[in-house]
Amino acid sequence: MLVYLNKGLVPASDAKVSVFDHGFLYGDGIYETMRVYDGVVFMLDEHVKRLYRSASRIRLGIPKNIAEIKSAIYETLKANSLRNAYVRLTVSRGYGPIGLDPELCKEPTFVIIADEFREYPEKYYKNGIKLIIAGTRRNLKEAVNPQIKSLNFLNNILAKIEAKQKGAYEAVMLNARGYLTEGTICNIFFVTPHIPPLSRGGRGGVLCTPSVDCGILDGITRKIILESAAANGLKIKEGKFKKDDIYNASEVFITNTTMEVMPVCKVDGKRYKVGPITKLLRGEYKKQVMNYSGGGSVMRKVLPLPS
Ligand code: PDD
Repeated sequence: MLVYLNKGLVPASDAKVSVFDHGFLYGDGIYETMRVYDGVVFMLDEHVKRLYRSASRIRLGIPKNIAEIKSAIYETLKANSLRNAYVRLTVSRGYGPIGLDPELCKEPTFVIIADEFREYPEKYYKNGIKLIIAGTRRNLKEAVNPQIKSLNFLNNILAKIEAKQKGAYEAVMLNARGYLTEGTICNIFFVTPHIPPLSRGGRGGVLCTPSVDCGILDGITRKIILESAAANGLKIKEGKFKKDDIYNASEVFITNTTMEVMPVCKVDGKRYKVGPITKLLRGEYKKQVMNYSGGGSVMRKVLPLPS
């Protein structure tokens, strides 16, 4: 495997970062995870845009412009002959003496890792996954805003540990005020039942998801889901929700770039079926992936189409 480190590709065994890197010492850095379908980086512009947003919020200068980042990603994919892959792009504060002052680090560390995408087990999509509402609260947006996709993941890791201890796959965190936020690596959606069917398609229920204001990462998958729900005539509510709202829901699912739309079969003691709205939106997401061409032309120049 070849890894892109700072200025170019190196064998994975040589892709090493100093123990004085502030990414290692303090979790001082940011990242993006992207998914590549048939040679095309899905939603590349949106990911790069969010990378710059995260960087600007921690006052980190990315040592490459947008075009250079995109071409470094495609160069890494090409060098590793990858067509269906994940890409992890990390920028840390870089090498510097011990101390929190970002100015101690002269040059950020820039890394792209790309590898074959290993699908999640099909049963996760067929039956749904188990989720808990964690005791660990999500970082306050006034402390470390979850909109910063940072290397500082301990908040999420503590919640993940709770999930594992309880035999669940994922954990959703409340914020300090007791409102639902998001999972450890995903956004959450649920459908409220007992609402009169909508005129279009007769689908009942309101699709609910915590608003950005609750302290979440505004996922790129989340945005696609909200747009396709609206295009399909579903009622949507982005807002503040409590534990009971999810317990009373008829369907629950989680979203992110690698999981796409993953159904949830259990939250704490409450069980759910993989419902029609989850199935509809999962199908719609797949269609978006199929129809997506952003950046595709760049890729097709460097990687031949499969024969
Ligand atoms: N995680 N919330 C959190 C805390 C996340 O870490 C992620 C993504 C999301 C969903 O964002 P998106 O739809 O843009 O992938 C929400 C990625 C996949 C990761 O950690 O690798």
